[in-house]
Amino acid sequence: MELKNNTILITGGTSGFGYLFASKLMALGNTVIITGRNPAKLEETKIQLPGVHIFQSDVSNPASITQLFEQVTKQFPELNMLINNAGEMRKINLQDASIDLLDITREIDINLSGPIRMVQQFLPHLKTKKNAAIMNVTSGIALVPFPISPVYGATKSGLRSYTKSLRVQLKNTGIKVFELVAPGSGTPLNDKFINDPGFNAGMLMDPEKLIDVAIVGLMKNNYEIYPGMARMMNVMSRLAPGLLFAQMVKMTEKAMAVTKK
Ligand SMILES: NC(=O)c1ccc[n+]([C@@H]2O[C@H](COP(=O)([O-])OP(=O)(O)OC[C@H]3O[C@@H](n4cnc5c(N)ncnc54)[C@H](OP(=O)(O)O)[C@@H]3O)[C@@H](O)[C@H]2O)c1
Repeated sequence: MELKNNTILITGGTSGFGYLFASKLMALGNTVIITGRNPAKLEETKIQLPGVHIFQSDVSNPASITQLFEQVTKQFPELNMLINNAGEMRKINLQDASIDLLDITREIDINLSGPIRMVQQFLPHLKTKKNAAIMNVTSGIALVPFPISPVYGATKSGLRSYTKSLRVQLKNTGIKVFELVAPGSGTPLNDKFINDPGFNAGMLMDPEKLIDVAIVGLMKNNYEIYPGMARMMNVMSRLAPGLLFAQMVKMTEKAMAVTKK
């Protein structure tokens, strides 16, 4: 697709991938709207990226999505692209009895229900546009479980499955459906893992490079985009899934052994 003169809504645009998408897509000549929960981070981003449009919105809250839709489509009726990027990744010890029943599914509300509800809300509007697109940000962890983040993995596998179905259902519309299968990358999302034994920070992809690959993928209409290690993970998940999973188990066991001490 042509990445110029679009009006693009990015969830979670105050940090990491969302921020870089916003900055690079604006530089290409697009109007960019970002969301986030924290108003101070949104204001700070507006200072760093003059011209970006900000809306406070929590993707895990359906009422907040409806309000966002009403405000954004009123102010930006030309909106033609949605990037479902907002996400959270936690380490969860499933034997920790103190985690309550609402909190245990928090990542599902943000990473899976969030994008599904965003699509449901914005789809009728996007269908009125000639060149429209949806990009969902999944993960290499959609291809193989990472047992230290059990709920996160479930959300990304779920979002990958949903995205494939969405692409089929929208085949006869003008809406292109992309999946960015992102590998581990040096954003604040990974700060909590950096000191874990077995975690190799050197394996993290430079987020700038990752988003450059994503943008080229969008331009070339590559509907599934696998930057860096994600490509190898995709191949391994088919040819040697046990080997790939064993690596994830090893990393989890090292980190959990320390946590238990
Ligand atoms: N970094 C990686 O290694 C990696 C790898 C694969 C996939 N991913 C995926 O890439 C996406 C972006 O991650 P990142 O690494 O850029 O993370 P990040 O630096 O932590 O940024 C997350 C962004 O999402 C926003 N956000 C979080 N919860 C939200 C909610 N409920 N509603 C609206 N906004 C919310 C945050 O702002 P507020 O906190 O202010 O809301 C922030 O702007 C996520 O979906 C993540 O799962 C990341």
